[in-house]
Amino acid sequence: MSSLVDRVAARRSWSKVTGDAPDHAELARLVAAAGRVADHSGLEPWRLIELRGAARERLGAALAEAAEHEKPSSKPLRAPLLIAIVACRRESHKVPDWEQDAVTAGVAHMLSLLLADAGWGVMWRTGSLVRAEPVRRMHELADNEELLGWLYVGGIPENTKDKPGHDRSIDPERFLTVVDR
Ligand SMILES: Cc1cc2nc3c(=O)[nH]c(=O)nc-3n(C[C@H](O)[C@H](O)[C@H](O)COP(=O)(O)O)c2cc1C
Repeated sequence: MSSLVDRVAARRSWSKVTGDAPDHAELARLVAAAGRVADHSGLEPWRLIELRGAARERLGAALAEAAEHEKPSSKPLRAPLLIAIVACRRESHKVPDWEQDAVTAGVAHMLSLLLADAGWGVMWRTGSLVRAEPVRRMHELADNEELLGWLYVGGIPENTKDKPGHDRSIDPERFLTVVDR
């Protein structure tokens, strides 16, 4: 078994996935772990919505309404499971919205890593209509809530399993500045 560092470094997104998906119980276990990210004042300013089956078609209809297209968008049908990432901004004098959104994004990244580690194909997607009113309505968002996109989740196609995809290795020296005096 490779180390956690190696497995995180090897993570990649999968734009094409099969119709297999983690069930609710498997997902719930991973969400329990992902939700342990640092959270200033413990505001828990996030929630997730599991969209499966016909819910994806309703999202396609909402995207079409937002784009003023007649035909429903088939984009949400690209994966069997879409996990909507919802930022829930809490009233706080101490913790501004950006800090709360950092928690939500942290949960989403952590969840995508855990799903990848469990062998699932994942891709975080947004698109220009992510904040459109019909899309908000379809997710039944409250006034203090904002959609940060969806994790598209499915099985990794057999014939691509061993392919690394693209090379996006990180040179740490480009990103890490040392200050010691
Ligand atoms: C908040 C967020 C939104 C994204 N939205 C899209 C999107 O709408 N379409 C897309 O092709 N990639 C989107 N991406 C990028 C992909 O998830 C992915 O990271 C990218 O294709 C690079 O692949 P890699 O993760 O394997 O390096 C988004 C990433 C983030 C963090």
